[in-house]
Formats: sequence, structure tokens, C-alpha cells
Amino acid sequence: MPRKKTLPKFPYDYIGERAQEYGTLDWMEKNQKKTTRQCVEYLFDSKLGSIEIEDFSNYLILDLGCGTGFSSEALLDLNFNVVGIDILFDMIEKANAKKTDFSSIQIFELILASITQLPFQPNSFDFIVSISAYNFITYKKKTMGEVNHILNETAAYLSKLLKDNGRIVIEFYPNTIKELNLFTSSFTNNNFNGFYIKQNPTQKSGQTFLLLKKGGINYGEM
Ligand SMILES: C[S@@+](CC[C@H](N)C(=O)[O-])C[C@H]1O[C@@H](n2cnc3c(N)ncnc32)[C@H](O)[C@@H]1O
Repeated sequence: MPRKKTLPKFPYDYIGERAQEYGTLDWMEKNQKKTTRQCVEYLFDSKLGSIEIEDFSNYLILDLGCGTGFSSEALLDLNFNVVGIDILFDMIEKANAKKTDFSSIQIFELILASITQLPFQPNSFDFIVSISAYNFITYKKKTMGEVNHILNETAAYLSKLLKDNGRIVIEFYPNTIKELNLFTSSFTNNNFNGFYIKQNPTQKSGQTFLLLKKGGINYGEM
């Protein structure tokens, strides 16, 4: 898979040979792991309120859209206990093959599931991250009503899954400011507060990080 200027197509770019290729690309691994570490820094951004954590091994983090496991591996390397979920077997089976690389005392579970239909109990996770995957939850949703519905349902469910004061960082690629606003308001409508950071603030679209805290203080308009 050569580096493309356009966003990848779901599911086309993540099945069969393309899934195989994704899992072997050094530049992709480097990018995704770097972005994951950036997301972890953002989880503890002082604007969300400081928390002192010296050892991540007491915390369970959910990796939404873990793919072939680059993001989950970066989280495991930081000592988190990790549950990764992905909707595509072709991607997650490659992550599964990496399970043996990690110590048996660390939790590393992988589940074939959609971000929009997660099989977990309320209050299960301390933190949630999603690296280059959250965009795709609106796949096949044609009308604005459908898009709004799936975004709001998902945000409401993620709020239930998180423990009190839990945090989420989502790295994604909105195409327009309107799209960015739809994603952010789905969280602020559903018991989250936070703000976004754009990699390149002068660009309307492009890499964006949503930094969110369950409940907590209101940061005003995002
Ligand atoms: C660009 S890959 C990112 C994978 C991984 N986070 C990484 O760091 O390499 C996007 C992933 O999102 C997954 N995905 C797309 N829609 C999804 C959904 N509704 N639920 C779960 N995973 C989804 C795709 O199957 C694909 O593996």
C-alpha cells in the first residue's frame, strides 16, 4: 500500500491482500504507534485536569478499531492492559498473532466487534482510544439523520462503558468543519466534556484529536 494523499476506503483497503500488506508496512507501524503515544499524552492533558499516574499496569484501556494491532502494541508497550476490537476479521487475525509477544500477566484481549455494537458491561474501562478508525462508523449511513443517530448512540454507549471520570481520545480525519462539529457534539450531548486539537490548525480538514472526559467541567464551545 503506497502512501496516499486521499483517505483509505473502508472496507476495501482493509481486506484480503490489503489487510496483509497493512500489517507489514514499516512506515504505517511507525506512524500508528507514534499517533497512539500522542493520544496517550492527550489522555493526560492538563486541560482535562491533571491526574498523576506512574504505572499504567493498573488500568484497562479499550482500543477501538485496533486493526492489525499497531495501536494496541503501543499501548501494551506503555504497560496498559488492553482490549482491542475491530470489525474486520482480516485485520484482527493479524493482531491475534501478536498475542504471544506479550507477558501473561498483562491483559491483552482481542474481540471481533463493531465500535457501534460493543459487547461490554458498563463501567468496564478506565480509558478509551481510537486511532484512525472512528471515521468509519458512519459507513453506509446516507442521511444526516442516520449519521447523527449512529454518532449519538455510540457516544452514549461509550459513556456507559467508561468508569467515572474516564477519558477518551479519538484521532480521526473529518473532511469538513461540519463533520468535525457533528462528531464533537455527539460526545458533548452525551455526558462528555472536552475539546479538539488539529495537527494543522490552519486546515479545515485533516488529522484531528478529540480529547474527552466523562462528566467533569464544561470547556465551553468546542
Ligand atoms: C487505519 S486502520 C487503523 C488500525 C489501528 N488502529 C492501527 O493503529 O493501525 C482502521 C481500522 O478501523 C476498523 N474499523 C472500521 N470500522 C469499524 C467499526 N465500525 N468497528 C470497529 N472497527 C472498525 C477497520 O477494520 C480497520 O482495521
